[in-house]
Amino acid sequence: MPKPAVLVVDDEPDLCELLSITLRRMDLDPHTASTVAAAQRMLRADRYELCLTDMQLPDGDGLELIGWIQKYAPGVPVAVITAHGNMETAVRALKLGAFDFVSKPLDLAELRKLVATAIKMSEDPNGDTELFGPRLLGTSGAMQHMREMIARMARSQAPVHIYGESGTGKELVARLIHESGPRRDGPFVPVNCGAIPNELMESELFGHKRGSFTGAVGDKKGLIQSAEGGTLLLDEIADLPLHMQVKLLRVIQERSVRPIGEQHEIGVDVRILSATHQNLSELVAKGAFREDLFYRVNVIELRVPSLRERREDIPELADAILRRLGRRMKITPPALGKDALKALDAYSFPGNVRELENILERAVTLCTDRQINASDIQLRATPMHSAADSPHSAPATTSSALEDHLEDIEREAIVKALEQSRYNKTAAAKTLGMSFRALRYRIKKLGIE
Ligand SMILES: Nc1ncnc2c1ncn2[C@@H]1O[C@H](COP(=O)(O)OP(=O)(O)OP(=O)(O)O)[C@@H](O)[C@H]1O
Ligand SMILES: [Mg+2]
Repeated sequence: MPKPAVLVVDDEPDLCELLSITLRRMDLDPHTASTVAAAQRMLRADRYELCLTDMQLPDGDGLELIGWIQKYAPGVPVAVITAHGNMETAVRALKLGAFDFVSKPLDLAELRKLVATAIKMSEDPNGDTELFGPRLLGTSGAMQHMREMIARMARSQAPVHIYGESGTGKELVARLIHESGPRRDGPFVPVNCGAIPNELMESELFGHKRGSFTGAVGDKKGLIQSAEGGTLLLDEIADLPLHMQVKLLRVIQERSVRPIGEQHEIGVDVRILSATHQNLSELVAKGAFREDLFYRVNVIELRVPSLRERREDIPELADAILRRLGRRMKITPPALGKDALKALDAYSFPGNVRELENILERAVTLCTDRQINASDIQLRATPMHSAADSPHSAPATTSSALEDHLEDIEREAIVKALEQSRYNKTAAAKTLGMSFRALRYRIKKLGIE
């Protein structure tokens, strides 16, 4: 692992020297620049984990550099060294995008803390989430309303049902409700009800006593109990089998659980949130979801709008996603070109924010430039949704998203097998465990060659 590089921008040799020694002792790799122009050159050429800049430089000032970094090297955290007591400049720096400041004369302990925070920030693949908590981005009316709702929901203890198309941020919203409320110091336990095999469901959710069934070699605490004092998110609650729905209803009504093999009910203090991309009331009408449970979990309903209902948020989301990708891939992320942004703006995003993340990740990989162009962006051909579309039209598009995804995996596997067999289809078919005819059919269908 190379040592994280830090750029120090200051025209006083003594200060540069002091900072370099301090940084080296922190096992970092310091580089120095004495002018704004030199700093820009270096930031263009290399990847830095942190930029520490003085305010007054021979050819400009620190504020100018902060602005430049936001534009041309986003993702590089920048902190400023301000003159003693100059809060006004410090605030301006923070508004322009600096993440922190230290004032002269330098307090080295304080400086070390700042540097450590910055390095942790660029190491965390989820970006700001760990240090500042996950954030709900977007300035659209819909997102502002969502933030208000989250604050309100956080204060209440009522069960909230979050619904919306897949990839809209339901889990994120649930997490924020937890983290903005009084239970924030307790655990947040998301449970994907659709992912737990039926036969394990009861033991997973409720736990079991040792010896209560073959294979129960020890006591096991269920997921519900592990959320004690915190919040339980029942994600994809529509996938809960009917017999589990009965048991869950009891938990909510009695505020207690009974692990398998246990004689007594054990009281639990959890807040219950649930989420789904399906239409629960429709499922109730069809008899696939219990009405009594529906009324319990659906005390408050929160709809997360699709991305196409709030297109104005796309640039900000894209920007944040690119920065995160940059941090994760340890590169300066490319900027998004005008035509690329235009293409995104015209797209229907059946997979919402998650799809935007996937599109950009692919684009960053494909892009050979410092900029992502429209040609780097691969969009699926999908019919345009209208804004009036109900979020519940999602299942159809979700299944096509899944199909596309599966096709991608299949295509990749076939191409790999073909390359390995030097394009000998018979050999490739053998590796893939399919007949020659089946392979030929897939190749044609997937448009390989
Ligand atoms: N408003 C937002 N601001 C920032 N990130 C967002 C926002 N909305 C969604 N995301 C990101 O999009 C991704 C998908 O979000 P999340 O998993 O919460 O969606 P979901 O609705 O639960 O999706 P699914 O139906 O696939 O389970 C996550 O990486 C999340 O951080
Ligand atoms: Mg989810």
